[in-house]
Amino acid sequence: MLMTDSPIRTPTRRRVLPVGESGSLWETRPSCGIFEFRGMRLRLMVDDPTEVLFPTDCGLSLLSALDSDDAPGLEGVNALDLGAGSGLYSVALLAAGAERVTALDINPASAAQTMSNVTANGLDGTRLTCVTSPLEEYTPEVRFDLVITNPPHLPHDPSYATGDGLETALVARRGGRAVYDSVVERMDSFLAPGGTLLMAHSSLADVPRTVAELTARGYESETLAVFEMDIPLLAYAEHKETMLALLKERRAAGQADFDGSRFTVHALMFRRPAAATGR
Ligand SMILES: C[S@@+](CC[C@H](N)C(=O)[O-])C[C@H]1O[C@@H](n2cnc3c(N)ncnc32)[C@H](O)[C@@H]1O
Repeated sequence: MLMTDSPIRTPTRRRVLPVGESGSLWETRPSCGIFEFRGMRLRLMVDDPTEVLFPTDCGLSLLSALDSDDAPGLEGVNALDLGAGSGLYSVALLAAGAERVTALDINPASAAQTMSNVTANGLDGTRLTCVTSPLEEYTPEVRFDLVITNPPHLPHDPSYATGDGLETALVARRGGRAVYDSVVERMDSFLAPGGTLLMAHSSLADVPRTVAELTARGYESETLAVFEMDIPLLAYAEHKETMLALLKERRAAGQADFDGSRFTVHALMFRRPAAATGR
């Protein structure tokens, strides 16, 4: 089971990632990489990086925040990797001793890529279940001890809508909030009482709103770390000005926080109260 009795930690560490060219850390779109997690070297491949997102600095930052001695225990957990993509979190959780992982994604190409990354790392594929579904339509038979997620966070606009897997991974309606809103709305159906939600939350998509909404539902929140990095505009280089204009509108309305091309990713941990109404 996940260890959730550690004291709430303050203050939050802010980690600054380097500045890239053209408002992006990605000089080229990678398709293969090695990442380290809890003393293990794990390898991640993406067969077609235009169809399934190769992990970004946003996704990796949450793992980095969990890569410390005082981070929650993962041994034996039954976990949901919500918006699994290429399976970064599924691989990390299984390598760290999770009993079972369910990798859910709306993109049908995610399931095969996640399974392939799990087995390529020598992990037991029978401990992984892949589900292709929008999270809005998914109800598990048994709720999870742990949910981990890195939702899309860039605002949608018809001028750069493509409808491919990359867009689904990076862009969301309602100014980039749509998947965060669904996560909040659905969390009681996914997470067992006493369970933990781990979320990479972009400052472009209103971190205070998500924290306030989950707090209002009785969840306890903790910021594990804050990472400053470039807004990942490479995929939208031709539409950079449109996207920045949308982001500026949201910032003026108090719904986004960034400075020039720099924004922050908040590694958040929420705990569902153990006394909440049952499974
Ligand atoms: C930013 S990517 C994160 C992928 C992976 N977790 C990582 O960190 O590398 C977001 C993922 O959520 C998926 N997604 C977007 N909307 C979704 C929805 N409504 N239901 C389920 N998955 C969704 C996308 O297909 C994409 O794989």
